[in-house]
Amino acid sequence: MSEHRLSRRSFLKTAGAAAAASALPIGVVELAFADATRNFTFAHISDSHIQHISGTDFVRNWDRGLIRAVAEANLLEPKPDFVVFGGDLAQLGTRPELDHGAEMLGELKYKTYHVMGEHDYYLDLGAYWSELFGPQYHSFDHKGVHFVVLNSVLTDHDWTHNRWPTAEQRMLEMAGLDNPNGSPFMVGGEQREWLRKDLATVDRRTPVVIFSHSPIQRIYKGWNFWTEDAESIQQMLRRFDTATVVYGHVHQIQYNQIGNISFHAVMATAWPWPYPTAYAQAAPNFPKLTVPMNRADPFFERDATGWQSVALEAGRATVKYQLPNNANRVVAFNPKTQRPEDRDYQDPARRIPGQIHY
Ligand SMILES: [Fe+2]
Ligand SMILES: [Fe+2]
Repeated sequence: MSEHRLSRRSFLKTAGAAAAASALPIGVVELAFADATRNFTFAHISDSHIQHISGTDFVRNWDRGLIRAVAEANLLEPKPDFVVFGGDLAQLGTRPELDHGAEMLGELKYKTYHVMGEHDYYLDLGAYWSELFGPQYHSFDHKGVHFVVLNSVLTDHDWTHNRWPTAEQRMLEMAGLDNPNGSPFMVGGEQREWLRKDLATVDRRTPVVIFSHSPIQRIYKGWNFWTEDAESIQQMLRRFDTATVVYGHVHQIQYNQIGNISFHAVMATAWPWPYPTAYAQAAPNFPKLTVPMNRADPFFERDATGWQSVALEAGRATVKYQLPNNANRVVAFNPKTQRPEDRDYQDPARRIPGQIHY
């Protein structure tokens, strides 16, 4: 299995510094740093889209993706300090879906922080999700880093409350990828005001990490890879020496640098979204995309899915994408270029071609 080989190679490269590295299939080896208290790792799992069929039946493929990610996260070495679940735990926001998802996530051996996804929200506007997982936005501090969890999938009051005859229809309209009846996501005024006050208490030298579901960038409106008030959030982050946004929702690897802010998207455990062809028309601050997100092998249900281990070193994120049966990838901040870069795929000459083996 390729992961065994990768793990072995990683181990050999860093054996001197990481005597604790084991032969676990997903060993992620971290080098030791002089000031170890400043460096730590966390795991990030996202977009499981647990889907209820009827009775006790759920879509098997989506279940398997989450179960695998949880099992692998539990085997991580070194142990992550916590886990973030990046949203879209459920497909249509129902209690059976959220309960079943929470049960699977309950197997994690670590403290877990939850981000709201639109698939979790638009049935009951987050009511049951909040019962299970707590507040929809909040902040916490960990080893000198200020973390903020945002609910970035809100939208206009009228669209939410007045447009749809039933909650189920509202949910279905927002669940479609390219549905023109959807509405752009936003953080919204109330939460922006809370964020302004929250960040006002944080020293500019303190690294800030934001977890959101939709990107705090405006990437591609047609598929709601978009947060309408992204720029005003970016403005609030501008005074910090280092700021990082980690987001789900797009089901693909993207990374970007806008001013002082690094952006990292994460993989879904459920399915990949391709790169929209219209991306080519986007603005110059458009994120990097390096491997086409086709599901190369439709008979391998985990193809083009994954989860991530994130190392924070002096406030900068190194994201290690754990990709079943694919080469794992690392996107890390490059101090020379002052932006995140994919260590293996940044140079077009080193990229593997898209696989076609139907
Ligand atoms: Fe999703
Ligand atoms: Fe989403």
